[in-house]
Amino acid sequence: MGKIKAAITGVQGWVPDYRLTNDELSRMVDTSDEWIMQRVGISERRILKEKGKATSDMAAAAVKGLLKKTGTPANDIDLLIVATISPDMFFPSTSNLVCHKAGLKNAWGYDLAAACSGFLFALETGRNFVETGRYHKVIVVGADKMSSITDYTDRTTCPLFGDAAAAVLLEPVGEDVGIMDSILHVDGSGYKYLYQAAGGSLNPATHETVDAKMHYIYQEGQQVFKFAVSKMADVSVEMMKKHGIQPDELAWLVPHQANMRIIEATARRMGIRREQVMINIQKYGNTTAATIPLCLWEWENQLKKGDNIILAAFGGGFTWGSIYVKWAYDPE
Ligand code: UT7
Repeated sequence: MGKIKAAITGVQGWVPDYRLTNDELSRMVDTSDEWIMQRVGISERRILKEKGKATSDMAAAAVKGLLKKTGTPANDIDLLIVATISPDMFFPSTSNLVCHKAGLKNAWGYDLAAACSGFLFALETGRNFVETGRYHKVIVVGADKMSSITDYTDRTTCPLFGDAAAAVLLEPVGEDVGIMDSILHVDGSGYKYLYQAAGGSLNPATHETVDAKMHYIYQEGQQVFKFAVSKMADVSVEMMKKHGIQPDELAWLVPHQANMRIIEATARRMGIRREQVMINIQKYGNTTAATIPLCLWEWENQLKKGDNIILAAFGGGFTWGSIYVKWAYDPE
């Protein structure tokens, strides 16, 4: 019998209703639709405004939708991994809360933090649980309520981020489809360019940390930009070379959605056309761990069994990588 492979067998996203437009942002900080569209490519982002709602609520909504559309009983799920850097609380884990809210009575789970590469790291982790044969139904969620750590008086970061969640179901398959390979990296020396300074054990919350706005995202945009373009492209090209995938044999590149210019530069360096790239940054902005599964969800009806797909991300940490997927099913 051949090696068991893990395949994505369903995908479901969830976004809040509220649309924060560039015009509204322009009334909050000194920015403009023109600047944001030219420099980043975001037109609007979704914000979870409802009081008392958090990352777990978005993730649970995505998970419930996934179970419904794939006809999977909640009790069949073995494991739930939530990639997030905006957990409801430090503990219990968001995964715990999602299991409770989505009624996954037989699942265990945990959170995984790798910023914008979180979904890739979690997918690779979930994949291995399936490939060992130990687990049969694993859900991987990317979910972030970025508005909870965004400073809406800082024009250099507040136009960038949005809130969303999206989940995939991983199951074993006997055929040569599914998650084929991954190349993942971290470089902790890059931490200083993108982080949330306070709230952890280094700088526990105090009046001073709040006054100094240390609980918000800090980013040195140009530095991150530079690394993002080269690392995301390099690792995607490396994956194509490793598997002998010619540019025209790639059905889709699914890049992390941080900046339209980064996405376009990555595609150029891979030698692929824009039509081969999933882009929805204009609608949702950077939803951190949710961007990649959110794209898969939006494009699901165009994906065909056997399609060569490369998922690629770069994010805080630094973290980056690519995952090669052969799509496992045709549209309904
Ligand atoms: O997902 C995690 C990884 N993150 C990323 O990949 C993000 C990477 N970085 C970026 O996408 C870009 O660096 C940003 C979108 C964050 C910024 O774009 P940029 O082209 O690098 O702009 P910049 O920081 O070099 O700023 C250029 C100018 C500055 O003004 P001066 O100094 O030239 O007068 C900024 O103050 O643009 C100004 N600026 C703005 N102007 C209007 C910065 N933010 C804004 C704004 N509206 N929102």
